Amino acid sequence: MEIRTAATDVDLTESTLIVGVMSDNTAAPGADDILATVDPNLLELSKFEGKTGQMAVLPHDRAKSLILVGLGDEATFESIRTATGNAVRLVKTERAVTNLNQIPIEASTRAVAEGAVLGGYQYRTYKTEGEALPIGTLELIEGDTEEIASAVLGAEATNLARDWVNTPALDKAPEIIAELMREAGESAGLSAEVWDEARIVEEKLGALLGVAAGSDRPPRLVVLEYKPEGATTHLGLVGKGITFDTGGLSIKTAPFMEEMKDDMSGAAVVVGAISAIARLGLSVRVTAVVPLTDNAVNGLATRPGDVLRPVSGPTIEVLNTDAEGRLILADGLGIVRRYEPDWIVDVATLTGAARVALGDKIAAVFGSDSEIAAKVLEAASRAGEHFWEMPLFADYKKSIESDIADLRNISNSRYGGAITAALFLAQYAGDGPWAHLDIAGPARNRETAGEQVKGASGVGVRTLIELARSLSSAD
Ligand code: BES
Ligand code: ZN
Ligand code: ZN
Repeated sequence: MEIRTAATDVDLTESTLIVGVMSDNTAAPGADDILATVDPNLLELSKFEGKTGQMAVLPHDRAKSLILVGLGDEATFESIRTATGNAVRLVKTERAVTNLNQIPIEASTRAVAEGAVLGGYQYRTYKTEGEALPIGTLELIEGDTEEIASAVLGAEATNLARDWVNTPALDKAPEIIAELMREAGESAGLSAEVWDEARIVEEKLGALLGVAAGSDRPPRLVVLEYKPEGATTHLGLVGKGITFDTGGLSIKTAPFMEEMKDDMSGAAVVVGAISAIARLGLSVRVTAVVPLTDNAVNGLATRPGDVLRPVSGPTIEVLNTDAEGRLILADGLGIVRRYEPDWIVDVATLTGAARVALGDKIAAVFGSDSEIAAKVLEAASRAGEHFWEMPLFADYKKSIESDIADLRNISNSRYGGAITAALFLAQYAGDGPWAHLDIAGPARNRETAGEQVKGASGVGVRTLIELARSLSSAD
C-alpha cells in the first residue's frame, strides 16, 4: 500500500474517507466539518457512538463512502494505529483518504502510516481463491512526508519479516532463505556474505553443525553489514534462524510442531531491521549475523549426550536436541563478537517457557546490565511493541552445568526455562552490554486485530530500529 500526503481540499469522489470520532460522537480534532456532513439519522441508525474499537461504514455526499472509527475518550498512538489497521481492511475502493494523522498527539502520522501498512498486510502466495484487499493508496490530509516515509520503512521491514516467517518450511531451506536475505540486504545497500557448509566447517562452528547434522538440507550463515561513514557506535545483531524445528531426536509432539516454521523469526526480524536501519540512513554501524538450519532427524542427527564445540566459549553437552536455538546462537554470538560491536542484541523464538510466563502478546527482554535492558524497553515503547524485562538470575547458572562438558543445553530443573536459556546465551555473549529478546510468545499473531494480522507478527523489527536510532550519533 502506498501512503501519501494530500491537500485539505482533496477530491474524494472515488475515495473512501476514514474519520476518527471520539466518545459521544464528538469529532476527533480536525474532523469537525466532516462529521457535520454526516446525516444525523444515519448516524443514529448505525448505533455508532465513537467508543474505542467501534466502526461504521456510511454513505457520504462527497466521498464514495465514509468509515467512522471510534477512538473513545482520548486518542492515543495505539488507538489510532489500531483504528487505521481495522479501517483499511474495510475499504472497498482503491484509494482512501484520512485525517486521523491530524489528531494532535505525538507521532499520530506514524500511527496512521504503520496501522495502514501493517493492518493491510496479507500473505496470499499460496491462495488460489479470494481477492487481495482493494486499497492501494492511503492519503493523509496534510501528512508530514518525512514522518510518513520513516514509518512506512519500519512497517514494510516488518512485513518483509512476516513474509519470510509465513513461508512454509518446504520453501525456505537455509540456502534459499539465505539468498533472499542477501538480496534484501544488498538492495538496502548493505554488504552481504553467505557462508556455505564448507565455510561453516572451516570456521569450526561446531554447535551450528551439530544442529544441522540431522538435516539433509545444508546450513548457512548470513553476515550483513551496515557501515555508514562517521558512525561512532556499533550494534551487533544475532537472529535465531531455525527453518523448521522438529525437535530433532528429542522430537516434538504434533501440536507443538505445527507452528515450527516460525522458528526463524529472530533471523527474519534482524534482517528486516538492519535493512530498514540502512534505508533510514541512521548513523550507527550495524552487523547482523544469522545462522540458518533445520532442526531435523536423520541417521546422522545429534544424539542426547553428544558434546558440541562452538566456535568459541564453553563446550556443550546436548541433553535435549529440542533446545537447539541456544546452540546455533552460541555460534552466532561467537561470530558477531569478531566484529567487536559495542552492543549486542539477539532475537529468538527461544523457549516455550517465555510464552508460558508472558503469554502471546509480550516478548521477554534480558539484559546483561540495567542500561541495555532499559534502552531496549524504551525503544520498544517508542515502537509500540510489548516487551517485559526478565532477570538473568545468576544462582540458576548451576542448573546448566554439565558433568562431562562445560555446559548442558537444558536446565536440570523444570522451571524458569526462559531464564536458564538466557543464562546459557550469556556464556557466549562476552563482557560487553548484551540483550536477549525471547519472542516465542508474540512471534505469531493468533487473530487479526488493528495492525496485527493473523500469522507472523514481525515483532522486534521496529524495536530494533528504535534502538538503533537511540544509539545513532546524530541523536
Ligand atoms: N523453538 C522452540 C521454542 C518455541 C516454543 C518457540 C513455542 C515458539 C513457540 C525451542 O527450540 C524449543 O523447543 N525449546 C524447548 C526447550 C526445552 C527442550 C528446554 C521448549 O521451550 O520446550
Ligand atoms: Zn526446539
Ligand atoms: Zn526452536
